[in-house]
Amino acid sequence: MKQQGEKIVVVTSYDASFTTRIEQAGIDVILVGDSLGTVIHGQPTTLSVTMDNMLYHMQHVSAARENALLICDMPYHSYQNKESALENAQRLVDVGADMVKLEGAGSGAGSISESIGYIIKNGIPVCGHLGLLPQSVEELGGYKVQGKEQAAAEKMLLEARQLESMGVDMIVLECIPADLAKRISNAISIPTIGIGAGADCDGQVLVLYDLLGITPGKLPRFVKNFLATAKSPETENIIVTALKDFAGAVKQKKFPMTEHSY
Ligand code: KIV
Repeated sequence: MKQQGEKIVVVTSYDASFTTRIEQAGIDVILVGDSLGTVIHGQPTTLSVTMDNMLYHMQHVSAARENALLICDMPYHSYQNKESALENAQRLVDVGADMVKLEGAGSGAGSISESIGYIIKNGIPVCGHLGLLPQSVEELGGYKVQGKEQAAAEKMLLEARQLESMGVDMIVLECIPADLAKRISNAISIPTIGIGAGADCDGQVLVLYDLLGITPGKLPRFVKNFLATAKSPETENIIVTALKDFAGAVKQKKFPMTEHSY
């Protein structure tokens, strides 16, 4: 799709019913995100999410998945060394994940890159995640735009290239300046999936509960409520219409706009 210039549409899901609606809307990729820690469990961060939580939600999404590629997040502390990373990645694959997502890069023994390389070497496809890393929110000092300084931007570009050369299949770019996301997307041949990363990524992801206007409180500027404007034909469920509107806006490059970007 990247080679053909077709935007990739990604939505998070955590249960069977919403997964059925996501499939009915023809969404390309479903992510069982550890954002479930905030939107389902009501926690302030994703740090409390466990492997058991991910397996529980994965099983229910997997039961309803039909055509979409299914990616599952590896939760906090589930990939601290390469052996536990592979064991946990395999458990997620065993309940239906096509690909696992790990946050961050970094090189050397005991690093995230070592875990990523080991998972790939053992035949499990990996999605990377750069920029704002919610599992590192404490080290980052909060949910802030990343890569604004020149040095940080160059480091992220280098990390994206390293992830590609290690065999990572896709990279989520979260909360980074749109021009940096564009540079990274042009520099690598694997697709980038943006969230708060501007319009030039190869695809876009939103948290399901954000795009349906369910998440309470003040939301980041990259979120748009697609249910608020959905106009269903009588024969179509309104959630499906909202999801189709999101997908259509991404495919037609009408979302995100400048007001959703940094
Ligand atoms: O956990 C999640 O839902 C994510 C997306 C925000 C990319 O990682």
